[in-house]
Amino acid sequence: MKATVKIAPSLLSADFLHLAKAVEMAEKGGADMLHLDVMDGHFVPNLTFGPPIITQLKKLSHLPLDIHLMIVNAENTYQAYIDAGADWLSVHVEAVTHSQRLLSEIRRQNIKAGLVLNPATSLSVLEHLLPDLDYVLLMTVNPGFGGQRFIPQMINKITALKQIRDDHSPDSFLIEVDGGVNLQNITEITAAGADILVAGNAVYGVADPQQAIEALRQAAQYGANKRQNPDN
Ligand code: DX5
Ligand code: ZN
Repeated sequence: MKATVKIAPSLLSADFLHLAKAVEMAEKGGADMLHLDVMDGHFVPNLTFGPPIITQLKKLSHLPLDIHLMIVNAENTYQAYIDAGADWLSVHVEAVTHSQRLLSEIRRQNIKAGLVLNPATSLSVLEHLLPDLDYVLLMTVNPGFGGQRFIPQMINKITALKQIRDDHSPDSFLIEVDGGVNLQNITEITAAGADILVAGNAVYGVADPQQAIEALRQAAQYGANKRQNPDN
């Protein structure tokens, strides 16, 4: 089976005064989803936006909304993000006490449920959670800011997670990668096993975001094809 990659531009790097324009560029570039970074100034040292902005973005775009919650207390507030229009919703294992319950509650509402791991968090936290999630989001920078450098040892982490999936069941969950993804490293990242690629600075920090998305997709798919046929 041929693995298909998904490109998820992160609006964190867009011009917040012109979000509608940023969404339009993502759509024209052929993005598969919009990655929305919700930060609370507690779990991460930065603040972004919450449900009111997401509600407006939902009205504006046909693209699925991939919401990455970098917040404490998600167990008490996650419903507001579903009501605002989340299609994919991920929570940090480091910020949630009862992650199994939260993931299954998200899923019960037919929303894709994701668990996010910081760079320093071991894959072992996933051992008893795989039946309850649709995707694992591996942070490849420490969360909080766009435009940081990809942490090189995260390639081995992606490879190890892909191995866990192969051992478990190949179709059981998707692997999303977030942080420092760019045209230079995206082929290696998808060859290692990533299916969903978040890109902030590599899309909105360049002159032509539409063209950037197309180039990222091509390079990402090349890596994913290599994964299928390592000899090519
Ligand atoms: C960082 C966020 C990312 C961020 C990625 O905490 O979770 O989604 O937008 O930005 P780049 O691609 O610039 O590293
Ligand atoms: Zn993110």
